[in-house]
Amino acid sequence: MKRTKLLLAKQNTYADKDTFTLIEENIDNLKNGYIRVSVSLISIEPAMSGWIVNRTNYMPTLNIGDIMHAFAIGSVIESNHRNFKIGDRVTGNLGCQTLADINPEETELDKTIPLNISDELAVSACGLTGLTAYFGLQKIGNLKKSDTVVVSAAAGAVGSIAGQLAKIVGCHVIGIVGSQEKKDLIIDEFNYDNAVNYKAEDFKEQLNKATPNGIDVYFDNVGGPILNYCLARLNKQARIVLCGAISNYNSDKPMTGPSNYFNLVYQSASMQGFIVLDYKAEFNDARKIISSYIDQNKIIYRTEVFEGLTAIPDALQHMFEGKNKGKVLVKV
Ligand SMILES: NC(=O)c1ccc[n+]([C@@H]2O[C@H](COP(=O)([O-])OP(=O)(O)OC[C@H]3O[C@@H](n4cnc5c(N)ncnc54)[C@H](OP(=O)(O)O)[C@@H]3O)[C@@H](O)[C@H]2O)c1
Repeated sequence: MKRTKLLLAKQNTYADKDTFTLIEENIDNLKNGYIRVSVSLISIEPAMSGWIVNRTNYMPTLNIGDIMHAFAIGSVIESNHRNFKIGDRVTGNLGCQTLADINPEETELDKTIPLNISDELAVSACGLTGLTAYFGLQKIGNLKKSDTVVVSAAAGAVGSIAGQLAKIVGCHVIGIVGSQEKKDLIIDEFNYDNAVNYKAEDFKEQLNKATPNGIDVYFDNVGGPILNYCLARLNKQARIVLCGAISNYNSDKPMTGPSNYFNLVYQSASMQGFIVLDYKAEFNDARKIISSYIDQNKIIYRTEVFEGLTAIPDALQHMFEGKNKGKVLVKV
């Protein structure tokens, strides 16, 4: 039996074909204490650009020649570990490879995905993506029914779910996106009340018009100038959920802070970051809630699936160029 794996070849900020090398190897006998997982679907994350250059501290350091990290789902095909059996579905950092030999004592895996949740759902709306939207809003957003909520990257994986969750609470929800097509999509499909195009010359006027009473909660996926302008429109006691800063991920310059940050003081507002993995202990309950919303058609989720490990650089570029609507996945 052979295994194909994608190794890190270059630590560049903008992942392209030269960033990785694809190799094929014969597999050895499975070590004691290990399980062998057949990887089926990989979740493409903006954070992958940070893993390549070791910008994040919540993933193991990656050196040239290491298997590229990937949150993914797969099935156990061989087990030398007492807690895992053949057929178990597992999610976690399985790496960009067809077959993953994993020591569950070293790499944390989740094998509690309910049978009614498909692989695709388990790595999108009911996976880290949906959970990120859920916990960001629940733990930091602290939503109230009358709140005006603004979400950036609103047609993307996290943003599309965040907007719908805020609508379920009864908030007035505005999405920030990069095209007219995405404006239409988030209103027609993802139930947003209004949409603003940040690439339009009159972006600020559009946002002012869409938020005449200011902003109570800003769910920030992008950082940069959009975060800065939202800071200027905060209401008293507003909350900013710092989820991500994709506008900075492909830059080799150090990140700079927003000049409007002092409005947090004037408005007694707060701005808090989080990593979804902080809330692991609550994943199961949250997953049940999100999947019941999906069953009731209160949440619509979209996926775009690329084929094969060789498609990973293209899938990353597709997302960073804003071509995706919903969650980008790679079928292994
Ligand atoms: N804190 C956590 O635990 C956690 C977990 C998962 C994800 N995240 C973060 O959540 C954010 C969204 O992730 P995702 O997986 O849902 O990705 P996504 O939104 O599906 O895809 C990224 C989107 O970002 C937008 N974008 C790209 N460059 C931009 C720029 N310069 N300025 C503004 N928007 C830009 C594009 O949409 P447009 O066409 O609209 O520009 C693109 O479609 C990322 O920042 C990610 O790092 C955080």
